[in-house]
Amino acid sequence: MSERVIPIISQPLGNLPIPVPSHVQAWTPGKQVLDQRNRPLRDLRISVTDRCNFRCSYCMPKEIFNNDYVYLPHSALLSFEEITRTAQSFIELGVEKIRLTGGEPLLRKNLEILIAQLAVLKTLTGQDLDITLTTNGSLLAKKAQALKSAGLKRVTVSLDGLDDVVFKQMNDVDFPVSDVLEGIQAAQAAGLGPIKVNMVVKRGTNEQEILPMARYFKGKGISLRFIEYMDVGATNGWRMNEVMPSADILQLLQTEMSLTALQASQPGETAERWGYLNEEGVLDEALGEIGFISSVTKAFCSDCNRARLTTEGQLYLCLFASQGYDLKPLVRGELDQSALTQAIADIWSHRDDRYSELRVSEPLAEQDATPSGGKRKVEMSYIGG
Ligand code: GTP
Ligand code: 5AD
Ligand code: SF4
Ligand code: SF4
Repeated sequence: MSERVIPIISQPLGNLPIPVPSHVQAWTPGKQVLDQRNRPLRDLRISVTDRCNFRCSYCMPKEIFNNDYVYLPHSALLSFEEITRTAQSFIELGVEKIRLTGGEPLLRKNLEILIAQLAVLKTLTGQDLDITLTTNGSLLAKKAQALKSAGLKRVTVSLDGLDDVVFKQMNDVDFPVSDVLEGIQAAQAAGLGPIKVNMVVKRGTNEQEILPMARYFKGKGISLRFIEYMDVGATNGWRMNEVMPSADILQLLQTEMSLTALQASQPGETAERWGYLNEEGVLDEALGEIGFISSVTKAFCSDCNRARLTTEGQLYLCLFASQGYDLKPLVRGELDQSALTQAIADIWSHRDDRYSELRVSEPLAEQDATPSGGKRKVEMSYIGG
């Protein structure tokens, strides 16, 4: 067993938010905004709660997220109306996909109301938004139908193994696999597809679940994605030796499955996708897909088009950032929609973040140090996945 190092930090975020710049640049309505690396803004991830009913060791370790942990008070949360107005501004700048995240987003009361409000918004080209949600699946069986009726298009479910002992070790709250599988089935029955299942692989903890997961989801019309354990946040005690590189996972899968690399379907995709070959060696789409999200060994910052809005209205430009921009004062109270849009455009146009790319270029020996310029990186449960 490797040593687990967990610093004692009990505040959601030690670093103060960055005030929104007052020198807003001219932005032309109907025009997309590009950052310093020519990356457009396409994908908005909205965290609707910083709470979760799981305590995954890689995300919300029990030692930190215990009874003494201070979560955001209700008054700090953006209301559904405030979230929708903010989303409207992002859409005016080119956002086409909205992902609701947490913590666990299904813990936010009446989430269907927010989904219904977002579902009526249209993209710049007049299309429906791709509205999706990342969930641990624990409440999905109960809520799938209501989410679909409200306008949710699809869901992504996190599941780190099929064996109860291993899964309980990952979620750390004794939650059984069967309830998550039931949630996935309910989501499929409700038409919340194509469904994706995300599995974070921690070497030494759940790597033995890779093959059983692939066998189980093959042929079910579900895309299973393996995620390299990332050095996100400051509390999970991340160590390079607990990362299982995607290349090793692929090699393991290929010991019993015939896979072929697929073309990326969209620029800026997080996952490299693979399809199954049938006995004649021909791609069989009905068997589903496997994806690899290799943030540690093969960074994908070069076309990263993702922005993140926290539960209390801070805009983060990178998953590994240590500070966000405080949009709340612009969103609360008397709203000037175009001032909000201009401010977001200005922030995005100055963006230069590419954390994973920079860390990949570091010598391996220094990688355990998780560089962030001396500042504490934001927690994933606060910023959303
Ligand atoms: P789809 O549109 O359904 O393909 O979703 P997605 O792959 O864009 O998003 P999802 O939230 O399913 O991402 C899967 C996982 O990839 C997350 O839980 C993170 O672990 C990781 N991830 C997502 N976005 C980023 C990112 O911008 N940077 C890094 N380093 N990792 C990311
Ligand atoms: N490394 C990789 N993925 C993580 N997630 C949370 N913490 C980490 C981490 N340290 C992602 C997982 C999970 C989602 C909610 O957030 O994909 O499924
Ligand atoms: Fe909760 Fe998801 Fe984080 Fe696990 S990874 S603690 S389910 S938010
Ligand atoms: Fe985007 Fe930052 Fe992730 Fe790179 S590390 S892909 S810039 S969120």
